[in-house]
Amino acid sequence: MAGMKLTMEESEVTLVRQAAASELMSDDDRSVAADSWSIKSEYGSTLDEEQRHADAAEALSAASYRVTSDYSSDKEDQDGDGVSSILGFQSHWDATYADELSNFREHGHAGEIWFGSDVMETVCSWTKNLCIDFALGHSPNHVGNTSSDQVGLHEKDLSKWSVLDIGTGNGLLLQELARQGFYDLTGIDYSEGAIDLARNLADRDGFPDIRFLVDDILETKLQRKFLLVMDKGTLDAIGLHPDGPIKRIMYWDSVSKLVAPGGLLVITSCNNTKDELVEEVSTLNQRRNSSSQELEMSQELEPPRDLPPFRYLDHVRSYPTFMFGGSVGSRVATVAFVKN
Ligand SMILES: C[S@@+](CC[C@H](N)C(=O)[O-])C[C@H]1O[C@@H](n2cnc3c(N)ncnc32)[C@H](O)[C@@H]1O
Repeated sequence: MAGMKLTMEESEVTLVRQAAASELMSDDDRSVAADSWSIKSEYGSTLDEEQRHADAAEALSAASYRVTSDYSSDKEDQDGDGVSSILGFQSHWDATYADELSNFREHGHAGEIWFGSDVMETVCSWTKNLCIDFALGHSPNHVGNTSSDQVGLHEKDLSKWSVLDIGTGNGLLLQELARQGFYDLTGIDYSEGAIDLARNLADRDGFPDIRFLVDDILETKLQRKFLLVMDKGTLDAIGLHPDGPIKRIMYWDSVSKLVAPGGLLVITSCNNTKDELVEEVSTLNQRRNSSSQELEMSQELEPPRDLPPFRYLDHVRSYPTFMFGGSVGSRVATVAFVKN
């Protein structure tokens, strides 16, 4: 069970809960983020969000989709089928980053590193080796086993990997990837405060070339595709909204458009195990196949020969494990998928 909970001190949760409680009813209106694009000319029009929400809801009921997770006590059961918490609301993140920004201005603090700096460093060095090995055509079991000579040869190629970090927060993951040799780096977050903080930190720490944009992944305005898409804790947060199961479908829909064919998606989660993420992708693939089959059949066309959008590649095996309820698990799971 990678799934204990998103790391936040209980006292902090209580404080934020009080601060955010009055805003929760009117939240989930992401128009602020949508209106606040810094570089509007780079982005084009997107599908109407209500339509996408309706499509996802329809797909959800058709597939009788159920999010299987090992949820913890800081989540509030909404209807017995799903769980939610304040971490699923943008108002929570806006309040959090407003605090973190003032901490940064007053004390120079970078703010919280989700899952801790060890996990962040593991994710980045593992991803670097994965990209090098993947480019060399090695199978997953070779990941990390490439000789140092080969690594030296291919490290410079890391600069060719375009990287997107979804829900970048303070952007420290991108700074770490820059230290590992990645160069073309973009971070998005729907909270303007997060983007403000990430930009300030990147400038202060000597990474002025990292791009940061206010963007909601569920209605992204990004037009380009990326060879490597990273997510640390964002799918977790999205899944904690009361409409989490629907939003997760919208998430996969957006992400499958952002990862370039042959590119990689690396998700780090504390709310889903590696197996649950792999199963979610397989459900997504099945749903895609059956809806395109229905379309083809209704139009009396050839059966589809589309490949499913993602296939499992590898996962981090080095996280410490523990026993809970008779099963072995780790607090965090990091899983890589290839875009077909
Ligand atoms: C658990 S935090 C992780 C932050 C960062 N990835 C890290 O590892 O430190 C989740 C982040 O996702 C962002 N987020 C949540 N939903 C989002 C959405 N729909 N679009 C973009 N960002 C989102 C939040 O603002 C927050 O910064």
